[in-house]
Amino acid sequence: MTTSSSSAAEKKIKLEIWKKVFIVFLFALVIFVLIYLKNYEKNQYILKTLELNGSVKDGYSLFKTNCVGCHGITARGLVGPDLHSISQSLNDKEIIKQVTGGLTPPMPSFEIDPQNMSNLLKYLHSLE
Ligand code: HEC
Repeated sequence: MTTSSSSAAEKKIKLEIWKKVFIVFLFALVIFVLIYLKNYEKNQYILKTLELNGSVKDGYSLFKTNCVGCHGITARGLVGPDLHSISQSLNDKEIIKQVTGGLTPPMPSFEIDPQNMSNLLKYLHSLE
């Protein structure tokens, strides 16, 4: 009698534990999927940008409206650094991350579509 009731209680506890493990697992899965989707989106964005052939002229006009305040009208640097020969220290992927990531305050993150990002890259390359 005692043994059977204690094993029933044990079963119940085990079930509770499995429920918790399952919930934690589900939670981790959701987080994993979200991170994966975010990275996938970002990678697609970078791939798309690198495929395109930007225009220096359009890139410069974008630069004038968004970047000159900090990097200067000739990109020689003000609050932000001089961007000449930037492609010697950063590759295109890193430049895209710098512009869209917002990883180095006070520089904000920019939401730029792939075509305009490609134009910006072309402009930055033209500064070499
Ligand atoms: C609010 C000021 C600000 C604006 C606006 C801004 N930047 Fe910056 N940027 C900075 C600062 C400050 C840094 C240096 C960050 C650091 O490394 O700590 C920087 C760094 C960079 C770098 C990396 C330089 C290096 O030597 O590593 C690139 C590339 C860059 N900016 C491009 C741009 C472009 C393109 C735009 C416009 C779309 C832009 N920035 C707009 C402030 C700004």
